[in-house]
Amino acid sequence: MCGIVGYVGKQEAAPILVDGLRRLEYRGYDSAGLAVHDGQKIKVVRAVGKLRELEKALVASPLIGTTGIGHTRWATHGRVSETNAHPHVAGDVAVIHNGIIENHMALRAQLEAKGARVVSDTDTEIIAHLVDEQLRAGKDLEAAVRSSLAQVEGAYAIAVSSVKEPAKLIVAKNASPLVLGLGEGETFCGSDIPALLPYTTRMIVLDDGQLAVLTHDGVRISTLAGAPIEPAIRVIDWSPVMAEKSGYKHFMLKEIFEQPRAIEDTLRGRLDRERGDIDGAEIGLSAEDAKRVGRVYLLACGTSHHAAMIGRHYFEKLARMPATVELASEFRARDPVILPGDLVIAISQSGETLDTLMAAKLAKERGARVLAIANVMGSAIPRMADGELYTRAGPEIGVASTKCFTAQLCALLMLALYVARRRDAVSAERARELVEGMARLPHLMRDVLQGTRQLTLSLARRHLDARDVLFLGRGPSFPIALEGALKLKEISYVHAEGYAAGEMKHGPIALIDSNVPVIVLVPRDEFRDKSMSNLQEAKARGGVIVAIATEGDEEARTLADEVGEVPPADSDLLPLLTILPLQLYAYYVADLKGTDVDQPRNLAKTVTVE
Ligand code: G6P
Repeated sequence: MCGIVGYVGKQEAAPILVDGLRRLEYRGYDSAGLAVHDGQKIKVVRAVGKLRELEKALVASPLIGTTGIGHTRWATHGRVSETNAHPHVAGDVAVIHNGIIENHMALRAQLEAKGARVVSDTDTEIIAHLVDEQLRAGKDLEAAVRSSLAQVEGAYAIAVSSVKEPAKLIVAKNASPLVLGLGEGETFCGSDIPALLPYTTRMIVLDDGQLAVLTHDGVRISTLAGAPIEPAIRVIDWSPVMAEKSGYKHFMLKEIFEQPRAIEDTLRGRLDRERGDIDGAEIGLSAEDAKRVGRVYLLACGTSHHAAMIGRHYFEKLARMPATVELASEFRARDPVILPGDLVIAISQSGETLDTLMAAKLAKERGARVLAIANVMGSAIPRMADGELYTRAGPEIGVASTKCFTAQLCALLMLALYVARRRDAVSAERARELVEGMARLPHLMRDVLQGTRQLTLSLARRHLDARDVLFLGRGPSFPIALEGALKLKEISYVHAEGYAAGEMKHGPIALIDSNVPVIVLVPRDEFRDKSMSNLQEAKARGGVIVAIATEGDEEARTLADEVGEVPPADSDLLPLLTILPLQLYAYYVADLKGTDVDQPRNLAKTVTVE
């Protein structure tokens, strides 16, 4: 679960590689390294820790040359150390890798038996030795990589550089993401689109089982077996500025405030306000298909799983269909029964989360139709799916997901409404109301963000020493409570629990005392009154109560110590509003504690390991 980047061109490679790595650092930040070909030799500089450590090392030992590769690591095989950092070198070869080589132990034993000196604990170094062995047997770099990969099992996106072929990189991919960028007289590769955006908007997303030869004047792509492939060049319309902080202290804060824009973009061209419908041409699900669906499975991990829980609510309520939410890793850990007519919706910001990808593949093999909701265009999950609905939140850099979560909710609501309309499960009038409500969402979100900014900052100050925080919600507010707790845990390292408000009396109530902030979601919907009772129970135990309530809720004002307000809105749209103060609260607690908000410890943005 690492980030890789490569450059072949006329400019100095090192600054471009470091810049690319900065954009990829969200994928892992245990160590980083560069290998640059100076025309004669390949020189490597690596450093343990965040990218700034590598930058310091590069000041002491600059790398000069116009061909190079770079890597930022999230350790899977071998502890965090300079020896285990990439690039790995064997003889004339330097390699960077994202993924896991499953048969690395057996290959290592074979190589060592033939005299190779493997110095790191990583699976990646094995690839460098295999390629070096093939080069020494007289093959050129491309052929050497091809025959090395034939021996390798597992997931990889690799870039390989050789002393013997200075102005060339060989890259290949299986299961880990790899994007190529086409510039003027220069060519790039990277783990994702934003890494390359400042340099070019012309990109090729490589498919599994493909290999590419990169030179300054372009790319040549083939299958691993050598059959030529005519690539599809995409012109990406994300602007590089979208991947900059634009004056915000952290990407997370910027992304929180970008949510109204992200929702506008996700809705754009998809709402039919006249007919109260969704324009779903891109989804690839005809009216007949929608009618044939018997049951919906929503598969996801992490924050996307919380979005899936609200998606279930939309499918049950609007489309009146049985809907089941599954953690992708647990779905795979069972022997799931897929029935004819099952529709699987795989939800993933990155589109690359391995558990979600594998769960969706399993469901597809068993006969389900798979739809993907993803943010990253051309990523693995939408590529394997039968249809897709992209959220258009733009690149999300902060490891803790914010704008992609609300964009996923928006996409799920559109999808459920689209299916509900095709099945005549929802009246035209109700559908029109919802569509109108969705169109107003960006405006309401702006109000909530502005209206709760000060309050959440002052709450964060007051709760700074709290060791536990409880979040309670009922119905669609329950996943919001889970998501609020997850945000706080992820970035501030404070223990937080999200609970179904009705479950509080079955356990968590024992945790409540005057040191425990209890954040209760009581927006005005059909669940508000019951949740207000739970709020009172928490208050009676001495908890410090924060209510997230609808403007003008006097009872909430009287009972709670503090109230974060959201405007009156359709109950199905409330989750997109109530999450906003919880995101801000988590952000401010973390910022005041001085944690690394955008890259919290031990986490990574894209999890391509099981
Ligand atoms: C990681 C990230 C989370 C994200 C989860 C699922 O754990 O840190 O923010 O929610 O992966 O990612 P996905 O890309 O599939 O939505």
